[in-house]
Amino acid sequence: MPSILLFGVTGLVGSHVVLALKKKYPNFPLTVYLRNATIDTYLRATVGVSRIEHGTYDEVERIASLAKDHDIVINVGSSWDTGLSEAIVDGLSKRDSGKKTILIHMSGTGNFVETRWNDGATHAESKIWHDDDSEDIKLINPKMLNGGPDTVVYEAGKSGTIETYVIYPPIIYGRAAGPVSALGIIQYFMHLKVKELGFIPYIGDGTAITNAVHVHAVVDFVMLVLTQSLGEDEPQKSVYERVYFIGGTETPWKNVSNWFAEAFFNLGISGEKKARSVTLEEAGEGEIPMLMSHDMRFTTRRAEKLGYGGNVESEQLREFLSHGSNIFTA
Ligand SMILES: NC(=O)c1ccc[n+]([C@@H]2O[C@H](COP(=O)([O-])OP(=O)(O)OC[C@H]3O[C@@H](n4cnc5c(N)ncnc54)[C@H](OP(=O)(O)O)[C@@H]3O)[C@@H](O)[C@H]2O)c1
Ligand SMILES: *[C@@H]1O[C@H](CO)[C@@H](O)[C@H](O)[C@H]1NC(C)=O
Ligand SMILES: *[C@@H]1O[C@H](CO)[C@@H](O)[C@H](O)[C@H]1NC(C)=O
Repeated sequence: MPSILLFGVTGLVGSHVVLALKKKYPNFPLTVYLRNATIDTYLRATVGVSRIEHGTYDEVERIASLAKDHDIVINVGSSWDTGLSEAIVDGLSKRDSGKKTILIHMSGTGNFVETRWNDGATHAESKIWHDDDSEDIKLINPKMLNGGPDTVVYEAGKSGTIETYVIYPPIIYGRAAGPVSALGIIQYFMHLKVKELGFIPYIGDGTAITNAVHVHAVVDFVMLVLTQSLGEDEPQKSVYERVYFIGGTETPWKNVSNWFAEAFFNLGISGEKKARSVTLEEAGEGEIPMLMSHDMRFTTRRAEKLGYGGNVESEQLREFLSHGSNIFTA
């Protein structure tokens, strides 16, 4: 039985991944690495994980030695922490050669913002990134939002000892599973933004394109990648071909901002029902203004070839926010 080591179990994505893993592979030894020590009973008794390790992502030597002891590592904990990815890769690369070793890394399409413009408008010339074009994947570099860990993973995949898979979701929405109430990165940042400004912004005319995917579609796809990789004796393709973008319908930021604004208004978190057009400076600090200011365009053809069903099976962002939004007051 291959053993699995999971990072991110208390997060929006990881809280669902752990349940999906136990459902699909109930007999695989499953270790979770987390810093919150209050949910052990839930993890052991309800979910059925076999091993719990408490720690933070700074403890690189422990992480490396844990990775060395597992066949499969799934990192849905951080797409920013380069040290974490280095530790995982370091450990996995020290396993006995000849043993199948899989690393599934979750990154994000924030890498692919069109940096030539930051006016919040869409531009016909914006680059569209394709997951089935290896030349696009080779352009990924440490200067990109999630590029540090990505680069570490690609270098490891090139060495041939680790079968790497990298998955790029856009905005992930939905509700966490279990006792955790993680909002996930973007829902969390939107909540912070409305508390900071008192309203939800968009930049300029708000036509800049963004994209969103339901957490259920993300988790289904992680499981699809894992199942596929377990079925192969040898990694079939080059490192740049074990890369998938997933997403839904391209949507202008103005729409997304208005949906969030209405949700926060209905919850009494802000007094403004409509999002406000502002300049980049007026939108304040952080990832949200950065993302809002640029187009972010990509296609999901390789993911679809593997069986990605798109975001159509799930509740759409607009519907989710119109009645799922009490996640923000939990
Ligand atoms: N959500 C999105 O919109 C989105 C979009 C694109 C890409 N992604 C990427 O997808 C992955 C999963 O996202 P998510 O939304 O599920 O994230 P999340 O809800 O923020 O979960 C992050 C997880 O990592 C853990 N963690 C973070 N830093 C840690 C540290 N230093 N030590 C120990 N544990 C640490 C958190 O533990 P605690 O509970 O203890 O904090 C939590 O379990 C991330 O890599 C994210 O960057 C997310
Ligand atoms: C740990 O998890 C519990 C239960 O979900 C939560 O109430 C608490 O805030 C978490 N602690 C930290 C430090 O994140
Ligand atoms: C965005 O909003 C405009 C104006 O309400 C609407 O016509 C358009 O269909 C919306 N697009 C999406 C993808 O929701």
